[in-house]
Amino acid sequence: MQNFEQFLLDNLPTSTSIHPTYEDALQTMLKAGGKRFRPALLLGVVKAYNPLMLASARDAAYSIELLHTYSLIHDDLPAMDNSPLRRGNPTLHVLFDEVTAILVGDALNTYSFEVLSKAPFSNEIRVKLIRELASNGGLNGMVLGQAIDCYFENKPLKIDEIKILHINKTAKLIAASLKMGAIIVGREDIGEILYDFGIKLGLLFQIQDDILDVTQSSQEAGKLTHNDEDKNSFVTILGLDESMKQANKLADELTKELSCFEESLQNELTPLLDKYINRHK
Ligand code: IPE
Ligand code: IPE
Ligand code: MG
Ligand code: MG
Ligand code: MG
Repeated sequence: MQNFEQFLLDNLPTSTSIHPTYEDALQTMLKAGGKRFRPALLLGVVKAYNPLMLASARDAAYSIELLHTYSLIHDDLPAMDNSPLRRGNPTLHVLFDEVTAILVGDALNTYSFEVLSKAPFSNEIRVKLIRELASNGGLNGMVLGQAIDCYFENKPLKIDEIKILHINKTAKLIAASLKMGAIIVGREDIGEILYDFGIKLGLLFQIQDDILDVTQSSQEAGKLTHNDEDKNSFVTILGLDESMKQANKLADELTKELSCFEESLQNELTPLLDKYINRHK
């Protein structure tokens, strides 16, 4: 991931214009860091099946991080979660203004597809990757999840409906990250299995995020916590103990499923899962 981090820093979006702060605003949240979980998943799959393709896969990994970063910038806007802190930094609408945060989000969203369209693969693979990112990050994926999340504030959902919310807003992009790795190495058969695994992993990831909202301070999380009271979070609806139980159950299932994968894939994904699978505890 160190290589990827350097690649990202070397390829930050640039813009020369008369606007005095636009480029700085475009780069701020990318430079602020984050777990880079989604790029690591994509690169892990590529490394497992064809390590020689790792360098060329970095563009695709970067495109996912761009789209994810845009989703965070918009998620923090006053009209959405109204959060002043992200990745340990003041959010863009605080640091600059709301217009800047909206437009930087728009710019990173479209730039992610520009980057993907130039990735060093065949046209066929590029189109498949673009479709995967668009369909999971867009109107029937992350954006739909965010729409449900905000519409149902203070309107409690049933637990199965919350799973639908979490799968859309978070799990689909995580599942797409794994599947895009499989598309790059020409293993679409495994792509489907990884997609299903990724949906479960993404659901766990969001339940953990809901748990950390009540167990971590804003300083520890690098973002505003105790901010989900109006939301259909797992903890708001089920309580902390039951959310922990559900997270533990998913973590156990994922560990078992991972142990059935081919050895090279296990070797790449195990360290990543070890790092995050129990982060709610
Ligand atoms: C936060 O994602 C938003 C969710 C989908 C839970 P991450 O927890 O991956 O945020 P960063 O990228 O590390 O900042
Ligand atoms: C956001 O979920 C998921 C996104 C698509 C960005 P949250 O609103 O719970 O994410 P955080 O806690 O602000 O990172
Ligand atoms: Mg949100
Ligand atoms: Mg939020
Ligand atoms: Mg959250």
